[in-house]
Parts: sequence; C-alpha cells; structure tokens
Amino acid sequence: MGLLDGRRVVVTGAGSGIGRATCLRMAVEGAIVTALDIDEAAARVVADETGGIAAVADVTDAIGLETVMTDAAGLMGGLDALCNNAGTGGMAELHRYSDRRWNRIVDVNLGGTFNGLRIAVPLMLESGGGSIVNVASLSGMRPTRGEAAYSAAKAGVIALTSSAALEYGPGIRVNCVSPGVIDTPLTAPILADPANRTVVEEGTPLGRPGTAVEVANVIVFLCSDLASYVSGANIPVDGGALLPSAQVDSVLARFLDQM
Ligand SMILES: NC(=O)c1ccc[n+]([C@@H]2O[C@H](COP(=O)([O-])OP(=O)(O)OC[C@H]3O[C@@H](n4cnc5c(N)ncnc54)[C@H](O)[C@@H]3O)[C@@H](O)[C@H]2O)c1
Repeated sequence: MGLLDGRRVVVTGAGSGIGRATCLRMAVEGAIVTALDIDEAAARVVADETGGIAAVADVTDAIGLETVMTDAAGLMGGLDALCNNAGTGGMAELHRYSDRRWNRIVDVNLGGTFNGLRIAVPLMLESGGGSIVNVASLSGMRPTRGEAAYSAAKAGVIALTSSAALEYGPGIRVNCVSPGVIDTPLTAPILADPANRTVVEEGTPLGRPGTAVEVANVIVFLCSDLASYVSGANIPVDGGALLPSAQVDSVLARFLDQM
C-alpha cells in the first residue's frame, strides 16, 4: 500500500528538479499525478514517466491556470492535493532591480502560489478536503545579499501558507517546505563551480547540498495521512544550514577551542 494511494494531485513546475522528483515519488506512492509546467515538452516527459497527465500553464496567468487545473481535476475525478512548486530566481543588488525583473520573480513565486491556492480550494472542498504544500525557500526565512525579490516573494509564500491554513482547516491542511541549497537545474550554474560547492559543504551541518528527492520526500509526507495533524507548518529541508549563521556562534566556537 502506498502513502498516497488513489490521491489525485497537481504539481506545478513539474517539468524539472524538485517538481519532477515530487511527481515521480508521488506516483510510486500510488497517486494519480498531473504534471503542470510552462514548458510543455518537459511536462509531457514527466507525465510519461509517471503514467499521469501533462498540463501546460503559466502559474501567473490565473485564467489559463484555472482552466487547466479544472480540466485536470475533471480528468482525475477530483483534486486531493496540490504542490505549488513553480518558481524562478534571479539576483541583483536591491536598487538595481528593474520593474520587469522584480515583478516576474514576485509574480511567479508568490502570485503563482496565490493562484494555485485559490483555484485548488473549491476543487478540493468539492472532493471532500485535501492537502496543499507550497515550496518556499530558506531565502524567505533569512536574507541573502542579491536575492531581495526572491526572498520577499518566498517570505510571502510562508505567510500565505499560514493564512490559508487558518482559513481552510479543518477540511484542507496547508503547509510549506523551505529548501536550502538543492542540486537541481536552478542551482546548477552555482554548484558547477567547485569553490561554490565547497562553501555549501562547509556551511551545511550535513556537509552537502540536498537532492530533489529529499525535498520530494517531505512534500509526500505532508500530503499523506502521516501528517494528518500538521497544518500551517514551514519545514526547512536544508541539511541544517539555518543553524550556523549567527555571529555569536563563531565567537563561542573560538572560546570552546581555547578551553
Ligand atoms: N534548488 C534549490 O536550491 C531551491 C532552494 C529553495 C527553493 N527552491 C524552490 O523550489 C522550487 C523548484 O525549484 P527547482 O530547483 O526544482 O527549479 P527548476 O528550475 O529545476 O524547476 C522549476 C520548474 O518550474 C517551471 N516554471 C517556472 N516558471 C513557471 C511558471 N511561470 N509557470 C509554470 N511553471 C513554471 C520551470 O519550467 C521548471 O520546470 C522553486 O519554487 C524554487 O524557488 C529551490
């Protein structure tokens, strides 16, 4: 028996990285999966891999997304879970963001999550309830230089998760995950440089970047009945990377070495 036997699921940003790994893991656990992506070819590949449905939409296009998600729920016979995973990055010093760049990062990460939520809620209530998992980021929990737009958008995703959990319980549980550095096509340009990889390894208690499957495992847990009393949570999936960041840590570590 799988953790998600017969559950009808939509995953956004399903064509790559964490979204693809989530679709594969959900299918192994018995879910019927709609792989939704802006990239049609990528969505089709994942749908073939999972024996599921491919759907094409830009999550910032509320009307297009509603049509596609409603059609997908119709084909699957309902909607029990949604993973709002589609996201995009981009870096610049705060004062150098163009309106276009700022708006796209906020629209995809935060607006896309809002669109997914407001479309999924009525479909899920019609299906008797469900579970929504939003993909935020460690960057939404503490600042990184150059990521003002992305950090603000992901902090918004964490806040939106809390609001939705408050409004839609007991029928719908809403949670989010905050990945640290995960080895996916999004981070490939950074991790391709061995010096950057070393910085990640040394700054992470678990000593390495995470894999997409390790994030997918937590998303599957949150969608499953194993998490039946979990709502409004934000779970970092970061190998402990949040921990060693305070300045006092290095002072105390020095003091410990001197004892
Ligand atoms: N990789 C990391 O280290 C990391 C860390 C923290 C958070 N995240 C978040 O995890 C999520 C997945 O990231 P990933 O690393 O797998 O990225 P990725 O680039 O490998 O995959 C993102 C997918 O989203 C799709 N997508 C992008 N914009 C879209 C849109 N407007 N509408 C529909 N689909 C769209 C892309 O086509 C792609 O298939 C994102 O929300 C990202 O912000 C990733």
